[in-house]
Amino acid sequence: MISRNDPCWCNSGKKFKKCHYPALPEKDKNKTYLTNYGIIIKSQKQIAGIKKACKTASIILDKLVKKATKGITTLELDEYAKKLHKDMDAVAAPYKYGNPPFPKSICTSLNEVICHGIPDNIPLKEGDIMNIDVTSIVDGFYGDTSRMVVIGKTTEAKQKLVDVTYECLNESIKILKPRIKIFQIGDIIEEIAQKNHFSVVDQFVGHGVGVFFHEPPQIPHNKNNLQIPLIPGMTFTIEPMINMGKKEAVIDQNDQWTARTVDNLPSAQAEHTILITEDSYEILTQYP
Ligand code: MF3
Ligand code: CO
Ligand code: CO
Repeated sequence: MISRNDPCWCNSGKKFKKCHYPALPEKDKNKTYLTNYGIIIKSQKQIAGIKKACKTASIILDKLVKKATKGITTLELDEYAKKLHKDMDAVAAPYKYGNPPFPKSICTSLNEVICHGIPDNIPLKEGDIMNIDVTSIVDGFYGDTSRMVVIGKTTEAKQKLVDVTYECLNESIKILKPRIKIFQIGDIIEEIAQKNHFSVVDQFVGHGVGVFFHEPPQIPHNKNNLQIPLIPGMTFTIEPMINMGKKEAVIDQNDQWTARTVDNLPSAQAEHTILITEDSYEILTQYP
């Protein structure tokens, strides 16, 4: 019996699995992904719904980013996010999510906050860098995206952190297509961060998204060993958190959500929801 890793019988010199190995019919493959990994491969109908949720989230995020200027509080941004969701017949997924229930509609992660920052009444000031993270539910489907805002002019070091974070996200997206393995995403991100003497947070990961807020698989942003190949119909986020100093995160003991850098040095993050297509990818949360 010829096995998957043997040389192919046709003398191509390739492995059997890369050559004449019979491909599973798509339906069987999708079922395998669900049973083996818990990954929901989306139908055309689900993809249409997820696209709408992602578009809504990106529009809302764009409006929030434009409103985030010197003097405004993150609580005011949260109020605005609530109104925007209502106006667009959408629901903000963070509100009451998890345990303890997240108290607000968006995450606002300022300076040394890595992620899951809770909007409060402190006004934004010159030089702040902040991630705004929006997850919208539309007709039951989820779209998840985040961006950085820089208030006025910041230091060269903080600006570089923001720029490198976007580079990490964008370069890791560019390689996506069916058969690429999940570990390759973290490889690229960690390489770019290291080259710039920054560190990559490993306590939070990207994730499948669309039918639920957080679905399998996990998408680590660090070097890892996840061999799962991407296939068409997968929808997931990539959301690297890049630190100026140490990679470790500490969760606030009082609110149980706010994740800060252990050394209180700045952190930056950016996030997109991605669809794997027949031969490539689509960014579903592209900025409008
Ligand atoms: N939007 C975050 C993510 O990218 C999750 C926030 S959970 C919350 O996965 F409860 F804080 F909203
Ligand atoms: Co996410
Ligand atoms: Co998010």
